[in-house]
Amino acid sequence: MKRILLLIALLLPASGRAAKTTAPDIMPAPQKLEMTKGWFKMKGVSINCDSALDAKTLSLVRQFADRLTLVGGKTVSVASPIGLARSVEAGGIKGLCFIKDASIAPEGYKLNIGKKAMVVRASDYNGFFYALQTIRQMLPISVYGTSPDLKAKWRVPCCDIEDAPRFGYRGILLDCGRHFFSIDEIKKVLDVMSMYKMNRFHWHLTEDQGWRIEIDKYPKLTEIGAFREYTIIKRDINSSDGKRHGGYYTKDQIRDLVAYAQARGITIIPEVDMPGHMVAALASYPELGCAGSGPYKVLPYWGVSKQVLNVGKESTMRFLEDVCDEVADLFPGEYFNIGGDECPRDEWKTDPDCQAKIKELGLVSDDKASAEARLQNYVTARMQKFLATKGKKIIGWDEILEGELAEGATVMSWRGTKGGIKAASMGYDVVMSPNIYCYLDHCQSTDLDSEPYCITTKPERAVTMPKLYGYEPLADIPEEAQHHILGVQGNLWTEFIGTDDYLEYMLLPRLIALSEVQWCKPENKNYERVLQSLENHELPILDLLGYNYRKLDK
Ligand code: ACM
Repeated sequence: MKRILLLIALLLPASGRAAKTTAPDIMPAPQKLEMTKGWFKMKGVSINCDSALDAKTLSLVRQFADRLTLVGGKTVSVASPIGLARSVEAGGIKGLCFIKDASIAPEGYKLNIGKKAMVVRASDYNGFFYALQTIRQMLPISVYGTSPDLKAKWRVPCCDIEDAPRFGYRGILLDCGRHFFSIDEIKKVLDVMSMYKMNRFHWHLTEDQGWRIEIDKYPKLTEIGAFREYTIIKRDINSSDGKRHGGYYTKDQIRDLVAYAQARGITIIPEVDMPGHMVAALASYPELGCAGSGPYKVLPYWGVSKQVLNVGKESTMRFLEDVCDEVADLFPGEYFNIGGDECPRDEWKTDPDCQAKIKELGLVSDDKASAEARLQNYVTARMQKFLATKGKKIIGWDEILEGELAEGATVMSWRGTKGGIKAASMGYDVVMSPNIYCYLDHCQSTDLDSEPYCITTKPERAVTMPKLYGYEPLADIPEEAQHHILGVQGNLWTEFIGTDDYLEYMLLPRLIALSEVQWCKPENKNYERVLQSLENHELPILDLLGYNYRKLDK
């Protein structure tokens, strides 16, 4: 009989067998997780909060309680905050307790889950937010839904978790210039980012193909610059889909989105890409252009345009400052992205204002950089100074390293990893988003024909999930420079991505794999575990929440 029971126990699925040893599917995986015995019941649980919790965290806890009440079908109440820490130390507390603990690292948290009490500790809002994400991941997946699930077991396994991110900057870029996406869709992106503990949303708001942000002082940017007459089909420059495309975000919509992101622990970093990638602005205000350039139209096709701002004119520089002034006021974060990538400099070679400016500034060509590249340095430095008066630090694409770059700028490494390695070695802070690993517009399979049409034309440029997951952000960074690597970002450019469904398909599930590159120490990464978690847990959650995603390879 005993043998039969043992056999049955061995044949049962892991989750039904040994609760003590079955680690829940938590992604990104926590730094330390130790399973103990038993379960903590959450149905109708009473919640106590430390009086040191701020109002924003208390509101977060109350929202969590409301959600548990809804899905569990039994009221979960939050008691008035009290001085909790000492009672918890004395072991006299039952239920779910939230305690502020200044000794915990930024964004980190501790969870001690016993049969009678679950204690959550963190030092800041994001720490509590992430602790709650982890708790949700340990509950039945109907916790993500909005209707009661009275059949589910509302409990979490007893365990001890100590967790904190490896990198402080964990980002996703969304290009809303090439294609316009609704605020509702962006909120969906923010939601899924926050589930996987990402904290920076880099919002690419201006492009040759569309200007997306309301600027009071320059209304034509959105009257004219936000719309293109048509879009080419794939790469055929002579084709047209026959549809006007565009849109822009009002300041009220942006304020709402910023608050929505903040509630999810996410800072939005705006990008106004300059001095290239500005054709939509030139179509709106042709006087910003170089001599002999134009006529301008919001571009219906892809690629790098030769048309560029005339930065030799003071009025153009004032335009940039005015725009950045209004944009900076909308975004409370410390960073402002000024772009700087793929700036075409040919028009500057013949434009009299630009050449006069080069002369005035004494810029020369040498073996390090051309005079025109140094003119771009002047733009970068001037915007850096201007934005500093608004309390902002600049980030720019790795081209800003060419020539001279002032101290205090942060470099976003996109043309592979070289730029990031060089910038960190020179003492600049760096965000790694190398195209070879982190470009989410690249094909997800080396079998290009099996995937929807996208930017990738060579199989070796595919960013498959294992390739992305295998990326080690500190590889080849000298040890003494590693502290300059602030983190990692996945970039979703949208030349060929025109619908919400396709956007989500390209984002997911790679975003989930990326979250481990951003959060986990290398020794905690395990691709087999990720695949299992996706299959068993994360993809069912995405289904429940109505996300589109690419199915896993079989
Ligand atoms: C970029 O992909 N041009 C930053």
